[in-house]
Amino acid sequence: EAATEVSLDSIPEGTTVSVKWRGKPVFIRHRTDGDIEKARHDDNADLRDPQPDESRVEDPHWLVVIGICTHLGCIPIADAGDYGGWFCPCHGSHYDVSGRIRKGPAPSNLEIPPYKFTEDGKMIIG
Ligand code: FES
Repeated sequence: EAATEVSLDSIPEGTTVSVKWRGKPVFIRHRTDGDIEKARHDDNADLRDPQPDESRVEDPHWLVVIGICTHLGCIPIADAGDYGGWFCPCHGSHYDVSGRIRKGPAPSNLEIPPYKFTEDGKMIIG
């Protein structure tokens, strides 16, 4: 199955893009220092599916998640919801800037696909 290649310099800091990998949406968020700080601070929050932010990223400036709500599979909306990450409009699940479930019916965090960085500034998903 083909991997998806993305040029990171096409994604300005503070923005999120959606790419396709194996027919699924994958969200790549170029996180700001503020996002990273917020994500790390919330490691200590009351998390439904506890995972430290550090365990969810290779490089803290880049969060990569599969864009499928872990409740019933809708596609969440970026930069929305009570925690500044994603909001799933189907039944109201709120995810934070680490893609962790914070409120609503979803049972678990947005999944992380396999990916790696290349030396020439690209990301390969898959
Ligand atoms: Fe996302 Fe139900 S599918 S909240």
